[in-house]
Amino acid sequence: MKVSVVGTGYVGLVTGACLAEMGNDVLCLDVDPRKIDILQCGDIPIHEPGLDAVVARNVKAGRLHFTTDVERAVAHGTIQFIAVGTPPDEDGSADLQYVLAAARNIGRLMTDYKVIVDKSTVPVGTADKVRAAVADELARRDCDARFAVVSNPEFLKEGAAVEDFMRPDRIVVGADDEQAILLMRALYAPFTRNHDRMIVMDVRSAELTKYAANAMLATRISFMNELALLAEKLGADIEQVRVGIGSDPRIGTHFLYAGCGYGGSCFPKDVKALIRTAQDVEQDMLVLQAVEAANDRQKMVLVDKVVARFGDDLAGKHFAMWGLAFKPNTDDMREAPSRTMLDALWRMGATVAAYDPAAMDETRRIYGERADLQLVSGPMDALKGADALLIVTEWKVFRSPNFETMKSLLNHPVIFDGRNLYEPAQMRELGWAYFPIGRQTA
Ligand SMILES: NC(=O)c1ccc[n+]([C@@H]2O[C@H](COP(=O)([O-])OP(=O)(O)OC[C@H]3O[C@@H](n4cnc5c(N)ncnc54)[C@H](O)[C@@H]3O)[C@@H](O)[C@H]2O)c1
Repeated sequence: MKVSVVGTGYVGLVTGACLAEMGNDVLCLDVDPRKIDILQCGDIPIHEPGLDAVVARNVKAGRLHFTTDVERAVAHGTIQFIAVGTPPDEDGSADLQYVLAAARNIGRLMTDYKVIVDKSTVPVGTADKVRAAVADELARRDCDARFAVVSNPEFLKEGAAVEDFMRPDRIVVGADDEQAILLMRALYAPFTRNHDRMIVMDVRSAELTKYAANAMLATRISFMNELALLAEKLGADIEQVRVGIGSDPRIGTHFLYAGCGYGGSCFPKDVKALIRTAQDVEQDMLVLQAVEAANDRQKMVLVDKVVARFGDDLAGKHFAMWGLAFKPNTDDMREAPSRTMLDALWRMGATVAAYDPAAMDETRRIYGERADLQLVSGPMDALKGADALLIVTEWKVFRSPNFETMKSLLNHPVIFDGRNLYEPAQMRELGWAYFPIGRQTA
């Protein structure tokens, strides 16, 4: 099938590459010429495991192309995916300007039947706005080409995006146009060969399903983080509590880890946007407001522990930080807890030496050169002369380090662990002052 993908970011590039992998003829469009240049040179602009190989294979096979030419992209695909960003507006609502600009481009240039698929995460009612924008453009030039608007939210996880797209748990399609549903079924059939995972529903329910999924996951994290704070005060161990409750199949073990808060390009903005959508229809989202407040507090928990140990004047203090990306296997630092922590440490006068296996370039892009941030090329390099180590992202490479070497490099054997990577009893035995989340330290 001929497919165009508008927006070649994390979602658009994975969507385009994986659809090409199944034999489709895919053209990816982006307004950012830098991204398209990188892709046309055979590189990829993001860190996503396995994606480079899929892109390279399909470019070579002539099934995957990249362009900045809107006209070419609109002409190419019967199916037009919109996978542009939907960042939060000032009031927390999703900013739809990129989605609607993409829709208007399609309406302005299309000449035959198109299925326009909202893959971006968009508030309930957006498909109606996309439909109105396309219809308006068609009316302006007196064109009666038919089109359908479909909601097909994306559930991939950064860091496992290719795997998630190739083997999805479910494919949600919100549509009311029979021809469009048939085309979507045909497009996704190769991804659900052993049993049909496509769930077809009405458009508004599909739009809400995406927010509901992210809101539920964020709720689990904030719930565990809140319990972790309580466990610390009550002399309990959140890791044991996690295992104890996770064994109940109604609860399950996934997404039950206490830590230093959730970040990324989705949970924070989607929780905010859902609260905002609810406000528009005079509905208070009491649980979600608490989820957000609990997460804001949690991003400071590690810094609070630093202050409890070193005081709130950190001038002259130097810290090592392991992990900058909001989670492992990505270089994405949008709303990452590391950023809240860096800002807080700098505000109190500290300097930081930081290492992340993937996000060094992104960190450099965000902060530039500054005297209070040293970006080093390996985990051990960060420790030299530091007063303590903060662990912020649970990359595998941090899980089993050489504690003796670490001790010889740090000024003091102190670890603030925002991801509970080590066993407190063992750390005590090894002579560390170890401060995890929700576990006993003394
Ligand atoms: N990143 C994730 O893990 C993830 C997962 C599921 C859903 N989503 C949702 O998918 C959407 C895209 O997210 P992302 O992380 O891929 O964003 P991104 O910022 O990585 O990519 C968006 C791309 O769209 C391009 N763009 C903007 N306007 C355009 C236009 N008019 N025409 C062509 N290109 C245009 C931008 O240049 C950018 O490259 C968002 O709504 C997000 O919430 C993201």
